[in-house]
Parts: sequence; structure tokens; C-alpha cells
Amino acid sequence: MSETSHAEGRTFPPPEQLAAHANAGPEVYDEAAADRLAFWEKAARRLTWTQEWDEVLDWSNPPFAKWFVGGKLNVAYNCVDRHVEDGHGDQVAYFWEGEPADDTRTITYAGLKDEISKAANALLDLGVQAGDRVAIYMPMIPETIIAMLACARIGAVHMVVFGGFSADALASRLDDSGAVLVITSDGGYRRGAPSALKPAVDDAVGRSPGVRNVIVVKRTGQDVDWSEGRDLWWDDVVDRQSTEHEPESFDAEHPLYIMYTSGTTAKPKGILHTTGGYLTQVAYTHWATFDLKPDDDVYWTAADVGWVTGHSYIVYGPLANRATSVMYEGTPETPHRGRWWEIVQKYGVTILYTAPTVIRTFMKWGEDVPKDFDLSSLRVLGSVGEPINPEAWLWYHEHIGGGRCPITDTWWQTETGAHMITPLPGVTSLVPGSAQFPFPGISAKVVDDEGNELSDDSTGLLVLTDPWPAMLRTIWGDDDRYVDTYWSRFGKNVYFAGDGAKKDADGNIWLLGRVDDVMNVSGHRISTTEVESSLVGHPSVAEAAVVGASDPTTGQGIVAFVILRESGTDSGDELVQTLRNHVARDIGPIAKPRQIMVVQELPKTRSGKIMRRLLRDIAENRELGDVTTLTDDSVMNMIKEKLPAAPSED
Ligand code: WT7
Repeated sequence: MSETSHAEGRTFPPPEQLAAHANAGPEVYDEAAADRLAFWEKAARRLTWTQEWDEVLDWSNPPFAKWFVGGKLNVAYNCVDRHVEDGHGDQVAYFWEGEPADDTRTITYAGLKDEISKAANALLDLGVQAGDRVAIYMPMIPETIIAMLACARIGAVHMVVFGGFSADALASRLDDSGAVLVITSDGGYRRGAPSALKPAVDDAVGRSPGVRNVIVVKRTGQDVDWSEGRDLWWDDVVDRQSTEHEPESFDAEHPLYIMYTSGTTAKPKGILHTTGGYLTQVAYTHWATFDLKPDDDVYWTAADVGWVTGHSYIVYGPLANRATSVMYEGTPETPHRGRWWEIVQKYGVTILYTAPTVIRTFMKWGEDVPKDFDLSSLRVLGSVGEPINPEAWLWYHEHIGGGRCPITDTWWQTETGAHMITPLPGVTSLVPGSAQFPFPGISAKVVDDEGNELSDDSTGLLVLTDPWPAMLRTIWGDDDRYVDTYWSRFGKNVYFAGDGAKKDADGNIWLLGRVDDVMNVSGHRISTTEVESSLVGHPSVAEAAVVGASDPTTGQGIVAFVILRESGTDSGDELVQTLRNHVARDIGPIAKPRQIMVVQELPKTRSGKIMRRLLRDIAENRELGDVTTLTDDSVMNMIKEKLPAAPSED
């Protein structure tokens, strides 16, 4: 398979000014290579510990790691109190921007400390103890962060469930985690209208006898059903509390949170993160990957707190580094398509971190939208969640970054907790479309099915060959599944990430999507991502999703679903042929899609991932599988109605 589908040709060296003052220069790679554990130990010293560790890493019982063994610290103290003690209490921690116009709040570090202390006291009053699980099912409002940090402060384990999830999803997570308390709100704003949350909590908690109380934040003023004795208003239980709370130190391996993520079976996996190693790596990566300067930058992760990106890079990393952040409640098109750029302009955002799927949506809306706003404050851009195709990379670089901002394409997972493969903005010459190099102190390889390393552009599997501080410690309540899922394919010392990848001659790592998304066509491995990238490289295509459908002759056949750009291109047979030939030219005849279907929408999870599994069901004419994690399940009916009777032959 040719490299040319990726090769944009150009590389982008770091801006001189940035390189000259970068937090992380080339020396960090050397330091980490010389002594990995000493490197992470130094990163840990950026935090405040109340007790020194005895050992940096205990890997005597793989794959169960212990980092900073014997060390003690309090996460909330590290994220907030110490900055106030250092004289930065007046610094803004969050500029919060609600979706309704003029609905804003500014929260300083001192203010945040008071609110977290009050919430911590309220949780203690309700009998929540260290180690108890507290569910948080909230919109993007400051109380969500306050609730998370209040849990961390008292050693309770938070379990945030994205507010877009259904009552069923919430119920199964309450049950699996054994939550004793739920923190929620009456509702939140979504696309210009209040959207209720409390009814789903009532439904889910009704099935979860372990939940003793539900704390409800008033956000929208919607009517709510009330269960006397169980339900409590946040204002009633939190506002009356003292702003004094003495943080207790917890063991470095004390559980910090559980975050559920979908696996290959129906039952979601409760990924467990702990205290010291997690905070060390999220804080250090946030500082290095984005070159965060706490006195100057205005940082914005445009994601939901309900995902790991929000946990690590809206909450823990930025706060540990004393960042000033933007937090936005709503959607990018409410009330207009320039809302994000208006926010960048208003707060002078300097660092923006978002996902390729959003960037492609902006591309679809056209460059005239951002053009009307002053984006000159931006200096570093980030990308996360899926491979960023070179076209989207270049669009982001030019139309958002004004051609001057490095883009850090960060590969990581809920399981890894923090960045694992990424360029560094002051060091790396960027190659559009590649996440490039393992972060200093991280060992990543591309291997074949037998575990032999590949570095010649051939497609293989991504593995992590040494434990890292922010790694998951287990799957909640299921050590066996933890071992089976991640540490059995190549033995107990090698983490199997589930991603296809290849490494080129310059050492750049190209992520190729989940391995179940790597197709095998006539014995050739072709990445769905590669074909998608080619399709969106065609001027008439806005978005594309590709699946491998089983095929009697070739093993798998390539089936593509495409959304056309708005400018009303012809969607007939002729265009389909043009696109098939375009891909064949771009990647090679082997990659020519068997079938291309023009659709209006693609089925996506609430985190914006395309649900290829469902598209595969359609391509193979099967009954649809589980659709409960879709944002909008009517999308599937729309697609089915559009289907041609038989695949087009060539
Ligand atoms: C999977 C993890 C990391 C937080 C958001 C997603 C894919 C993530 C990239 C990237 C290529 C990426 C991988 C990974 N992925 N970032 N920069 N380039 N692929 O977290 O839901 O746990 O998903 O997302 O396939 O395995 P997640």
C-alpha cells in the first residue's frame, strides 16, 4: 500500500519563538531515554506530596502496577489550595460560558477552593467516606468540576457519566460501580433549549438500591419530580457549609475515579484510575504537550467533562498546572456557527484542544465562518480522539491557526489516562496526519501478530512495552477481564492498545484506527481511516465512514458512506464512480471501494465516534445491533432508506 495517501509532503518545524521558550525542549527526550523512572520521578516532584515515596515503580506483579509506592498526597490540594497558598488566589481558574447568551461565570482559584471545601463538607455530612463511589451525571457547568474535586478531596471515587447517556446506561454504571450517591442537575442547555437530566436519574436510581441520596443542582429551573428524604438541593446542602476543610492525604494508589468505556462486549468496562501516577502524568503532559504558561495562557479543551479528555485536560491537568481555562456549556452551532470563534476572540484563547470530527464539521461550514473573528491569540492547537486526516489538519492549521500554530495530534485512550504519542510543539517538525513520537518516558512500538517490531511502513499493532504512571490499574471489579483485554495477546508485560499503526522510516507513528477497523481485502491490509482520508480529500466529500463488509471473493469488501459538502454537488452514479476511482488512484486499486453510499448523516456516539459496527450491519444486511449509545437513532433509519438495492459492480 502506498504512503502517498498520507504524505502531504510538507513538514512544519516549530515556530522559533515557541521553540526558544518551550517548557519542554529536545533535552526531555534524552533525559527520559537515559533513565525513564528518574524522568517520571522528576515529573512527580512538580506536585506537592505530604509523604515521599519509597519506590517509583513496583512492577513485581504484572500487569498490576504501583507507582510512587508509599507516597501520599491530596489531589484537590494539588489542583487548587497550593496555588492559593502561593499567592495566586485571584487568578481565574475557569471562564465559564453558558450556552444562553450572556450567561457567564468567572471562578478564581480562591473561589474554587471555597466551593470545593463546602461541597466536601456536604458529602461528609451525608456520610460519604473515602473509597465510596459517587456518580456525577451533569451538564457542563462549574458544579460538575466542583463535585469531582470535592470527591477527590475526601478520597471518594467519582464516576462521571456523560449527561447524554440514557437512564439504562446510567443504571448499569450505578450498579456496576456500587455508587452510594448521585450528583445531578435539573437539566442543562443543549441547542438553545433546556434539556432535562433528573428524569433519567429518577429512572436509574429507582433500580439502584445502593444509592442513598441524590443531590440536585438547579441549572435550568425545570420542574422535577422529588423523592422526599432521598433528593436534596445542592443549594440546601452545600451553601450552608463552612469554606474550611482540611484536606487529608491519600496513598498514591488510592482510587481517584472510574470511567466507563465501551468494549467489544455489551458490558462497558469501568476503567480505574488512581491518584499519584495519574496526576503526575496528566499534569506533566498538559504542561509539555501544550507548552502551558500559567501566567499568560488561556487554555480551552472544547470537550465534555463526561469523557476522559475532560477529566485529564479540562480538570486535573490544567488545574494542577494553575492554568486559566475556558469551559463552554453548549454546542458549536448555538446560537450560530461562529460560536467557538467568538469565544476564542472574547477570552483571548491561546491554546485550543479539540477533535477531528469537529474540525471536519467546521470545514463543511466553510472558512468564511472563522474568518469573521479575531483568532490571533491562538498559539498552539491540539487534536484528539481519532486520526486527523491531512486535509483536516491543514484546514485547522490554516483557517484556525493562521498558519502559525503547531498542532499536537495526541494519541491516548481512556485506559492510558494521559497523552502517550504526540509531537511536542517546541521540538517536533510536524507531519500532518501522524501523531509521530512516543511522549518522553513512554515506550510504544508497532508489532506484527507475533510481536516482532515493525518499522518499515508495514501495518501492525500498537503496543506499549513499559508501564506508565497514568495507566489504568484494572477494570473495576474484574481483574481477569483487565488481564484478558489488554495484557494477554503478547504476555503480561506488553499492553495491547487495540489500534492498528505503522511506523515510517523517520520513526513517525501513523495511527490507523481500531484493529477491528482494519480491513483485509484479498489478503491486503487496508485501514478504514486511510480510505476515509482519501475520500475526504476529494473536494465534494465532507465526511466519510468506511467499513469492511464480508465478501465471498475478497474476504472483505470496502463499503463507504459519504456526506457531501453543502455546495449541492450531484449525488448520482457518476459521482460515485468518480469517488471510487479517486480512492483507487490515491491509495491503489486494491483500496477501491466496492460500494459508496451517499447519506445525510452518520451514526455517531455522543463522543463523536462513528459507530462503524452499525454501518457494517447495514453493509452486510444484518439486523442492527445495540443502538443505545447513538446520539440519534433515527439516523440509522435514514441511512437504511437511502440504500441501493444491490452493490454497484465494476
Ligand atoms: C481510541 C481511544 C483519548 C481521549 C479520547 C478518546 C483513538 C484517540 C487518537 C489520535 C488516532 C486516536 C484510538 C484510541 N484515538 N486519539 N490522536 N490519533 N487515534 O478516548 O474513547 O478511550 O478512545 O481513540 O483508536 O484507541 P477513547
